[in-house]
Amino acid sequence: MSGSSAEQHYNRREQFTKRKRAELRTYALRKYNNAVKRTLINTYAKRGDTVWDNACGKGGDVLKWRDKAVKRVYFSDIAEQSVRTCNERYKELAEPKYAAQFVVCDMTEATPFAMAAAVDAAYQMDVVSCQFALHYAFGTPKNAERALWNVSKALKVGGFFIGTVPDAERIAAFKSNSICAVEFNKKKGTPPNAYLFTLEDAVDKCEEYLVPLNVLDTTAESLGLKRRQWLPFSAVTTQGADKLSPEELEVANLYRAFVFEKIR
Ligand SMILES: C[S@@+](CC[C@H](N)C(=O)[O-])C[C@H]1O[C@@H](n2cnc3c(N)ncnc32)[C@H](O)[C@@H]1O
Repeated sequence: MSGSSAEQHYNRREQFTKRKRAELRTYALRKYNNAVKRTLINTYAKRGDTVWDNACGKGGDVLKWRDKAVKRVYFSDIAEQSVRTCNERYKELAEPKYAAQFVVCDMTEATPFAMAAAVDAAYQMDVVSCQFALHYAFGTPKNAERALWNVSKALKVGGFFIGTVPDAERIAAFKSNSICAVEFNKKKGTPPNAYLFTLEDAVDKCEEYLVPLNVLDTTAESLGLKRRQWLPFSAVTTQGADKLSPEELEVANLYRAFVFEKIR
């Protein structure tokens, strides 16, 4: 099978019940990823903040924003079905909850804001969060630049862009283990930085793109975003790391948490 787009993958993806999730071989990894995201959110978001959860998926962070008592969250994702599920999860949140809006949009669109109608006139976000998704924007330099432009445009000066992304060097060196595989896609016409990513019970040969740190830094900096952190997950939190199988630990080690500050 050749790779297919993230949108197709995520629209098709099954929503597991709590009980089913607990039986998965990647259960501890999922929990650990959530602990990492929660720590990032708790560190960089404040009570009363306005937030853009960019590539929100099925709303994995809906509850984390509530626990942080933010004021408003704009949720967006390219996969319509995921945005719908995210909205359902939000509706099920107990009060008091933040205000929220839901938008289906591609973070690499030139005129970002399909969100425009939804976003505060001055685009004064305190935090933009992009968890496990920025790499999908790196298929071409233009897409990467647009995605980062959208983030920068949305943030107020002093605001933070936080997220988690595969580390290009580690992905390039990784082959496979029993739960995860990386294959470089030699098919004609595919971007040179494309690879097919498989993670058990998550994605199957989904086309993703390397995000070289120097390219990320240079592009972001040209748009007024200065990197403040680039951390292995173990430096974000060790909570739940002891429960990871050796294979899950290898997968967790493929990722980095990032923090950029909007400086102008
Ligand atoms: C691994 S999931 C992460 C979801 C969520 N952020 C989380 O941590 O639970 C990646 C998400 O990126 C979304 N995505 C991929 N390409 C995108 C794009 N160009 N614009 C917006 N969302 C995109 C997918 O639809 C998917 O929901």
